[in-house]
Amino acid sequence: MIKNMKIAIIGLGFVGLTFASVLASKGFKVIGIDIDIKKSRQIADGIPPFYEDDLEKTLKIGLKKNLAITNNFSSIIDCDVIFITVSTPQKKDGSIELAMIKRAVTVIGKTISKTRKNPIILVKSTVTPGTMQHVIRPILEKQSGKKAGKDFGLISNPEFLQESSAIKDTKFPHVIVLGGYQTKFMSKMKKIFANLHPKIPIIITNHQTAEMIKYANNSFLATKISFINQLANICQNIPGANIDDIAKTIGLDPRIGNLFLNAGPGYGGSCLPKDMKALINFANKVGIKPKLLDAVEEINLKQLEQIMIMLEEKLGALRSKRITILGTAFKPNTDDIRDSVGIELIKKLLKKRATVTIYDPKSMNNTMKVFGDEIFYAKSLPSSLDSSECLIIMTQWKQFEILNNKLIKSMKRKLIVDCRRILSKKILDADYHAIGIGN
Ligand code: UDX
Repeated sequence: MIKNMKIAIIGLGFVGLTFASVLASKGFKVIGIDIDIKKSRQIADGIPPFYEDDLEKTLKIGLKKNLAITNNFSSIIDCDVIFITVSTPQKKDGSIELAMIKRAVTVIGKTISKTRKNPIILVKSTVTPGTMQHVIRPILEKQSGKKAGKDFGLISNPEFLQESSAIKDTKFPHVIVLGGYQTKFMSKMKKIFANLHPKIPIIITNHQTAEMIKYANNSFLATKISFINQLANICQNIPGANIDDIAKTIGLDPRIGNLFLNAGPGYGGSCLPKDMKALINFANKVGIKPKLLDAVEEINLKQLEQIMIMLEEKLGALRSKRITILGTAFKPNTDDIRDSVGIELIKKLLKKRATVTIYDPKSMNNTMKVFGDEIFYAKSLPSSLDSSECLIIMTQWKQFEILNNKLIKSMKRKLIVDCRRILSKKILDADYHAIGIGN
């Protein structure tokens, strides 16, 4: 019965496209909708607009089965379930931009005004507490002339998938959160999710708590990272101290856990920085000064500043210095450079007129879109080092582990800043500095 449901997924970014592909590959009837015509066509041809492990394969299976891709919203008219997965980007003041979600729900409202069905609308997009009740529901009710909870279901359903493991996380989530009123629609969605993920906990709560859960989750992850980064900085001033041994050991305490304790140049990506800023902005609006969150954010920004200070200490003025950056993707196994710390570092180096060469296994094209001919793009990892005066490892790509004395021979000056401690176990004929290791 569940397999006969028709599901619409609106917004084909990381979350929407992954979710649509996984559901369709499992045999559900799915319509993926995105207003970007070029992107929709590309996806309909089986080509994801970004790199994600197993996505292309899953998308192609989905397309062969029951996945239709369109930019036409009218096809939601006979859908039983509608997921909203449009993005909520960051505004200058840190709050979230609701224009896209407002546009999507306006069209959904107008479309469902013409149906006799009682669809269930689930919002996966990350929105601050109160958005569902004060923005989304009023628009839907006004445009459709129908009532939430009676004529259609409305549920907050935050998403926790990580890029680079998006397909796996969608198939095997650690939790399902359903926020909203306890209606027949909620019971139905609970059954559907229990069927889809039999052993996974399902948390039923209200809208505002569900919305807050997402921010709690990401801000806690960011806090773990800034905590370990702060300790890494202390370790750097203790000769011989090693942050990885510390992280591994404290991670064995089940109260702490070993994930997200990998020190580095600071967190980036399309979620953690944006969600931190949105939560800080939101907390201030509701009258709470979020001291801890402010500190987490400040520590994150300081990581990069410290790298710049170290470079100037070692190299003097950076003007015309040839610097190699390994890794512009915000994390390994993705080509995503949104809010990437590596990209920020390049911007800072260009301001100082350094000569920058980069290499990244997946994100060269995306990086080129940002910097054009302002920087050099190496064809391979070894060639990125030719005549370089400093090598900075930013992203923890496995491919960078091959670096050794032979490969760094072509450097003009062997200064290495290893933000991920990829080479920390090697004996290198170089002036080697690693985040979190005391010199
Ligand atoms: C994050 C959340 O993890 C996910 O649950 C949410 O749905 C979306 O936001 P993602 O943006 O894919 O996922 O990346 P994540 O793996 O969390 O990494 C974010 C940043 O933190 C990266 O720049 C990464 O390099 C950095 N990081 C992560 C560390 O520096 N150390 C760590 O231990 C973990």
